[in-house]
Amino acid sequence: MPWAVLLGLLAALLLLLLLTRRRTRRPGEPPLDRGSIPWLGHALEFGRDAASFLTRMKEKHGDIFTVLVGGRYVTVLLDPHSYDSVVWEARTKLDFHAYAIFLMERIFDVQLPHYSPSDEKARMKPTLLHRDLQALTEAMDTNLRTVLLGDATEAGDGWHEMGLLDFSYNFLLRAGYLTQYGVEALPRTPQSQAQDRAHSADVFHTFRQLDLLLPKLARGSLSVGDKDRVSRVKGHLWKLLSPTNLATRAHRSTWLESYLLHLQEMGVSEEMQARALVLQLWATQGNMGPATFWLLLFLLKQPEALAAVREELEGMLRSAEQPVSQMTAIPQKVLDSMPVLDSVLSESLRLTAAPFITREVVVDLALPLADGREFSLRRGDRLLLFPFLSPQKDPDIYTDPEKFQYDRFLNADGTEKKDFYKDGKRLKNYNMPWGAGLNQCLGRSYAINSIKQFMVLVLMHLDLELVSPEAEIPEFDLSRYGFGLMQPEHDVPIRYRVRP
Ligand code: HEM
Repeated sequence: MPWAVLLGLLAALLLLLLLTRRRTRRPGEPPLDRGSIPWLGHALEFGRDAASFLTRMKEKHGDIFTVLVGGRYVTVLLDPHSYDSVVWEARTKLDFHAYAIFLMERIFDVQLPHYSPSDEKARMKPTLLHRDLQALTEAMDTNLRTVLLGDATEAGDGWHEMGLLDFSYNFLLRAGYLTQYGVEALPRTPQSQAQDRAHSADVFHTFRQLDLLLPKLARGSLSVGDKDRVSRVKGHLWKLLSPTNLATRAHRSTWLESYLLHLQEMGVSEEMQARALVLQLWATQGNMGPATFWLLLFLLKQPEALAAVREELEGMLRSAEQPVSQMTAIPQKVLDSMPVLDSVLSESLRLTAAPFITREVVVDLALPLADGREFSLRRGDRLLLFPFLSPQKDPDIYTDPEKFQYDRFLNADGTEKKDFYKDGKRLKNYNMPWGAGLNQCLGRSYAINSIKQFMVLVLMHLDLELVSPEAEIPEFDLSRYGFGLMQPEHDVPIRYRVRP
């Protein structure tokens, strides 16, 4: 029997090799690079360091090419002038959701009957915009104060040390969780706020254990020990976020109410609802903390930039209608009038936001590029844009692209700079941390408001410094999707205290 299994496996492998090796480039298709390892193709190099691999491929083939990655053919487009042909293409041709559904099932064990991503999007979109956005922003302000200032006060006078990534991720995720999933009681009391702090800390610490294992989980390379850990951690999160536990929470966002109703209307079981709510915690809260980590780090490493942000904030607060001591929330007007902080955030995202923008090719189609060329794409392949390389790190667009230059997105008159050029032509998509087109991030206004609120609170109320100001900025690790983050043991130590 073992021999039969072995022979079967060998036969399957051989068939696989024959199938994947048969593909050749057809006229009109992008250059094809299958790499030297059958079936795997370039999977190892891609997984290790996508940015270096894609740079090498770009030098070899130009700004469009097809590579074999773990049995899939992926066409990579790196010309930002042509990105609109992809991001505005109809879903019936280039589908955003197929890969998201695959990740949802593989990583979060979520299977939804009669699931329609476009119905879900139509339903959820209004809960992140306009009046609902204002409600989210106001709640976020209060919750940031509860966790950030409350934790620091609870810990007592004097300096506290922790890692900068832990600091940023912890406070933003906890406040974001309370904002979207609700708080212990309304009106808040000192006791209910202490409970909010403890409960949200439990959610964060459990979530973070899963977050650290996600790259391995996505690649399917968990060890036996990791698998046990993942199922324990998921079990705890499902309990914490179960509809029954959430039912008693106060001040739940319209986002949560709408999402729960949507799941119930689909007939999703309570257990599956809890899994979907954990997935949503990751999707909505997984990026703000890491983005803020880099923003704070660049500011702490560049005193001139930090001084410019401080000066802008102090000017705004001086001209605000209310004195700072009486402010219970940062007015939206203040958040909207901080072009220096906006520029710092855009610059920090330019250097660190590295999402893969992927679409499934649903039908054979012709992809027109901005320079007049046209390429055939095959149904069943995947299309990938990687704006991190171009436009974001493109030396033709940005001088010294590796350098953090806090005023890069400011005009001489202090307004936002929006004109950037490549090959003498003005670019529409010159910085893409939020994606672009039909599937551009729906939470970006909420995320931008939250990050700015957090920065304003830190600047107003805390003294915060690097423990080793002379230490180098840590290596950017792109094996994690999204933002290149280090493992916790390489986090950047900081110390902070509530200003006396
Ligand atoms: C710094 C924080 C964030 C970053 C950098 C970020 C980035 C992105 C990117 C790049 C995409 C587009 C992916 C693609 O086109 O393939 C996206 C989509 C999306 N984001 Fe965000 N995001 C952030 C925060 C949030 C938050 C806070 C929410 C909600 C509360 C959110 C909700 C969404 C949704 C719903 C989509 C999918 C849109 C669709 O289905 O068309 N994001 N995000």
